[in-house]
Amino acid sequence: MPATCVVGLQWGDEAKGKIVDLLGDGFDLVVRYNGGANAGHTVVVNGKAFKLSLLPTGVIRPNVTSVIGNGVVVYPPRFLEEVDQLARGGIDVSGSLFVSDHAHVIFPYHMEEERLLESGGEGKIGTTGRGIGPCYQDKVGRRFGIRVGELLRPDHLRERLKFVVPFKNRLMAAFANGHAATLKPFDPEAVATEYLGYAERMRPFVTDTSRLLQDSLAAGKRLIFEAAQGSLLDVDHGTYPYVTSSSSLPSGIWGGAGVPSRCVQRIIGVVKAYTSRVGQGPFPTELDDGSDGTGERIRRIGREYGTVTGRPRRVGWFDAVAVRYTAALSGADEITVMLLDVLSGLPELKLCTAYEIDGERHTHFPSDAYQLEKCKPVYESISGWSEDITKARKLTDLPAGARRYVERISELVGLKVSVVSVGPDREQTILA
Ligand code: IMP
Repeated sequence: MPATCVVGLQWGDEAKGKIVDLLGDGFDLVVRYNGGANAGHTVVVNGKAFKLSLLPTGVIRPNVTSVIGNGVVVYPPRFLEEVDQLARGGIDVSGSLFVSDHAHVIFPYHMEEERLLESGGEGKIGTTGRGIGPCYQDKVGRRFGIRVGELLRPDHLRERLKFVVPFKNRLMAAFANGHAATLKPFDPEAVATEYLGYAERMRPFVTDTSRLLQDSLAAGKRLIFEAAQGSLLDVDHGTYPYVTSSSSLPSGIWGGAGVPSRCVQRIIGVVKAYTSRVGQGPFPTELDDGSDGTGERIRRIGREYGTVTGRPRRVGWFDAVAVRYTAALSGADEITVMLLDVLSGLPELKLCTAYEIDGERHTHFPSDAYQLEKCKPVYESISGWSEDITKARKLTDLPAGARRYVERISELVGLKVSVVSVGPDREQTILA
C-alpha cells in the first residue's frame, strides 16, 4: 500500500512540517519512527501556534491517526504537555494518537547524564540536552533500558528502577568530575512514583503500534512517515560522531515503526535553499561572517534559531556534495526546496559542487566528521535577484536568477524539484 516518507537531506530543520502540511488530506496515518523531543516544530492552526517536539506535525490534521513508533524515545512529561497543549487549543487527540509500548522511556537521569557529559569541553557534541543519546545507549546496552509498556505495570516498574537507578547514581558520580557539588542522587522510589503518575495518563495512548500500522496497511490506509532530524545526523551515515543517536534516514522505518519499508513508494527529500546546522561538527560551507555579514543576514531573515533550544543556528551556502550523498542514501524520488525567499537581495549566491582535501578535488562525501573537517568547499557562483519572491505562485513568477538557482540545485543533486517554498504560509508555495 502506498506510503510516503518526508525526510530532511541536510542537518535538520529543513521545514519538513510544511511539506507534511501540503500533503493535506492525502494520508490517514502519520508516523514518527526515530528521535524524540529533540525535534522541534511550530504548527499554526486557525491562528493558534502549537510548539511540538515529540508528536508528529501531522497530529493537528482532523481525521488523521498519529503514531509514535517503537524507534522513538519518549519523555512522558513532554508527551502529556503536548497532548494538553493541543487540548487547550481545541484539538482532542484521544483515540487518534498512539504510542508504541516498545518505545523507550527517557528518565531524568538520562538528562542528567547528558548534562554531565556535555558540560566538559572535550567530546562535546552540542546536543539538545533532552536525554536522547543516554536513552538510546540504554536501549542498545539492554541492561538499563525501560520501555513504555513497562510503565503500565507498577510493581514491575518499581523493581526495574530499584535495579537501574542506583547504578545510574554510581555512574554519574564517577564522571561528575568538577560537577559533583551539583549532583543529586536519584531516589528510585520517587522516580517510580512520578512516572507511575504519567503512566496512568498515558495508558489509553499506549499500544502495539507495529500491529496497528500493519493492519492499517492491510486495510489500504495511506501512511506518511515523518523522519525527525536530518539525514546528515543519521547515526550510521551522518557526520559521525556529530550526529544524533537514531536512524533518521528512511532506512529507520523498518526498525523504528515495525513495517517493511517496501511499503514506502514515495520519498520526498526536503532541503533548504541554503544550509543550517545546530550543535558541534564540521560544516564546510559555513558562513562564519568574518567578512560581509551574509551569514548573519540569512540567520536573521530565515529566523534560524533552534525551536527546542533557542540556539542560533549556524548557516552557510547550499552544499550539493552533501545533498547528493543523502539523496542517494535516502532513495529520494524528488526534492523540495524550502526558504528560497530568504536569499532574495543577495547579489551573488554560491553552490558547493565539490570539496578539496590537500589540493585534491573530491565529489563524494567523506566517511566521517574528521575527514569532513579537512574539506574546503569548491564553489560555483550564480547571480542573485533583488525582487521579493514571496508572492510567486508559479515557477514563471520567479525572477530569472531564482529560477536558475533552483534549476542548478536540481541538476547538481540529480533529482527533480517538486516544490519551491517562498514563505512560511501554505499559500506561499510553488508546485513545480
Ligand atoms: P541530540 O539528538 O540531542 O543527541 O543532538 C545531537 C545533534 O543533533 C546535535 O548537533 C543537535 O543540535 C542535533 N539535532 C538533534 N535534533 C535536531 C533537530 O531536530 N534539528 C536539528 N538538529 C538537531
